[in-house]
Amino acid sequence: MRVGIVGWRGMVGSVLVERMHQERDFESIQATFFTTSQAGQAAPAVACEPTLADAFDIDRLAGMEAIVSCQGSDYTKAVYPKLRQAGWSGYWIDAASNLRMDAEATIVLDPVNRSVIDRALAEGKTTFVGGNCTVSLMLMAIGGLMEAGVVEWISPMTYQAASGGGARHMRELLRQMGDLHAEVADKLADPASAILDIERSVTAKMNSGSLDAAQFGVPLAGSLIPWIDVPLDSGQSREEWKAQAEANKILGCEQQPIAIDGLCVRVGALRCHSQALTIKLNQDLPLAEIERLIAEHNDWVTLVPNTPEATREKLTPTAVTGTLTVPVGRLRKLAMGPDYLSAFTVGDQLLWGAAEPLRRMLAILVA
Ligand code: HSE
Repeated sequence: MRVGIVGWRGMVGSVLVERMHQERDFESIQATFFTTSQAGQAAPAVACEPTLADAFDIDRLAGMEAIVSCQGSDYTKAVYPKLRQAGWSGYWIDAASNLRMDAEATIVLDPVNRSVIDRALAEGKTTFVGGNCTVSLMLMAIGGLMEAGVVEWISPMTYQAASGGGARHMRELLRQMGDLHAEVADKLADPASAILDIERSVTAKMNSGSLDAAQFGVPLAGSLIPWIDVPLDSGQSREEWKAQAEANKILGCEQQPIAIDGLCVRVGALRCHSQALTIKLNQDLPLAEIERLIAEHNDWVTLVPNTPEATREKLTPTAVTGTLTVPVGRLRKLAMGPDYLSAFTVGDQLLWGAAEPLRRMLAILVA
């Protein structure tokens, strides 16, 4: 299969290419690497053509049987309609969000919705889009409960990493951390200094306007921001709106949607999104049965015992970053009643949250 790859140098794209190397995906495709700015320069060694192709060259793109784009929404807006208008009927696999909710597009997360993907392929559909990161990670975590039909509603409260904003956001967070430390490094080194003096200096620095906060708008280091993306008339942020809309589309149950709504919060983690879930079950299931349904659903979800030791060791962004593991812990019945379940889950926003579902969709097409 002739596969065009666009946006492979960016954060999601480079994670995608790294995973394709690990899984030796390049051995079963003929890859052409496209670029928006450096056409003609040398292509990576795995490419079947020695130089980079122009990512705006519609004829060149149309020669591909599949195109995987991690280039972002602006690129999709500019190129996808032109390609389709030119009569191109190849497979478009996209990390950007703008086509997700279109009727022609299928949101891909095959450990959760392989049957929806297979149906779309059987119907001749050719547009496949990765889901929002928190939505994909939530479904990887509790897909077993969804599949068993035991969920009445979910309220996910998220703790989203800086990487969700982009590479510049991650740099900004780290610079802020360094600047805040630098502000009090002398006092911190002195064990006799008063902690509230240190705190006052840090807080003053955060409120001074002198920290670089161009990406997030306000300091994130030492703080959090309970708003992600643009506001909607409903009072939700767009990120919050996606939970119900996308999850039900992924599961193919848009006709009888499960209510999913909560608050999305940016925190100072680097690349793992975490979520605290309140799950209203439609029956009083024993905890052991809940754990079985969750654990047996896919090869990546793992159960973390509800103990302080296991939670600290296995259920943090630090423990999960760079892995495909999706741990679920803090599972217990809530005081509201036997059909109210809590769960906490963590996942790498760039792997299952972005690159991996696209890589696997391409592998499904190639198989
Ligand atoms: N919108 C997500 C976030 C990342 O800002 O964390 C992309 O799914």
